[in-house]
Amino acid sequence: MAVLVTGGAGYIGSHTAVALHEEGREVVLIDNFANSSPKAVAAIRALTTDSMAMVEADLLDSDAVARVFKEHDIDEVIHFAAYKAVGESVAKPLDYYRNNLGTTIGLVEAMVEADVSKLVFSSSCTVYGQPDVIPVTEAAPTGAESPYGWTKYMSEQILSDAAAAVDLDVVLLRYFNPVGAHESGTLGEDPNGIPNNLVPFVMQVAVGRLEKLMVFGGDYDTPDGTAIRDYIHVVDLAEGHVAALDALNGRLSGCTAVNLGTGVGSTVLDVVRAASDAVGSPIPHEIVERRAGDIEKIYADPAYAEQILGWRSKRDLADMMRDHWNWQRQNPQGFA
Ligand code: NAD
Ligand code: WQD
Repeated sequence: MAVLVTGGAGYIGSHTAVALHEEGREVVLIDNFANSSPKAVAAIRALTTDSMAMVEADLLDSDAVARVFKEHDIDEVIHFAAYKAVGESVAKPLDYYRNNLGTTIGLVEAMVEADVSKLVFSSSCTVYGQPDVIPVTEAAPTGAESPYGWTKYMSEQILSDAAAAVDLDVVLLRYFNPVGAHESGTLGEDPNGIPNNLVPFVMQVAVGRLEKLMVFGGDYDTPDGTAIRDYIHVVDLAEGHVAALDALNGRLSGCTAVNLGTGVGSTVLDVVRAASDAVGSPIPHEIVERRAGDIEKIYADPAYAEQILGWRSKRDLADMMRDHWNWQRQNPQGFA
């Protein structure tokens, strides 16, 4: 039996494929390389096995998806495939709704047809917006502030409704801010163009591809005035997916939302300092205006993940920066 990993060539999917293999699971990857490269698949295979199956297909192609379930013995699915750029989703909302909702609905239809009932879904802490209470628990109100965010909110609703109606058990994993890379430095995040996210931007400054970091906002109500997030090592996140599948094999049924975060809030300047330590030289930066739409502070209450999945993060910010830098240093142009 195998686990189908959609978006398996992407940043989080690739690390999860390695973690699943290490835990003894057989893995089938599916990706259309819309935001990734066949080189990521080569890197996964180099860390695992040359025989790991990879299907190049668009998940919106229902015939291709049905074929995957016919040709492989799939009994579990992790659904990462989605578009994820918040700003782009405002400019191209229909692309985001079609891809992120269409792939989810089509995938679940194919699962029902093939009698596969265990699904782990990539959701996001973006569904909390700026929570009133921090650390934020899974019981906090949800909503969205961008078409991307709405696709996560709506996918959660679709999967919850489907789980109530058909033979489907789902874990909705709400990720906080994934950063870092595989410790080998052969697998990591490879954003297209100028990165939107903090750590990829910092690392491209460190490697000389960008001149300096703009720190968005120095007047937030936080200890140093910069915004607070819960950064989580991508390998911890990957291990959280293995734990979620394990929980679906026995303890969990229905549809369950779980935070995957560390419970530690770091400011932008904390990240800059940790990155400078990892790199061994200062990261040039300048504090500028706030970024429109940014929230001030959020970090997870990770207690439910520990209770329900038996999972907690093990790696700290220094580990995240060391591994992200190790990847960026060895691959200054990513997979290019
Ligand atoms: P990513 O872009 O690196 O990976 C997504 C993968 O899905 C890519 O390889 C892309 O080519 C593939 N894909 C997209 N549409 C597809 C389609 N129609 N058919 C087949 N393949 C398709 O992104 P990531 O950072 O690995 O994120 C994975 C998931 O986690 C996404 O659902 C994302 O929304 C969610 N998420 C990410 C973050 C983050 O900060 N990285 C935070 C919260 C949630
Ligand atoms: C982190 C902090 C910025 C870049 C986004 C999505 C969210 C989720 C995770 C998917 C903020 C600051 C950033 C820069 C900076 N993704 N920053 N200079 O905003 O928490 O969330 O990714 O679900 O949906 O919105 O992450 O990495 O963009 O920003 O000062 O050049 O770094 O203002 O405080 P964010 P981020």
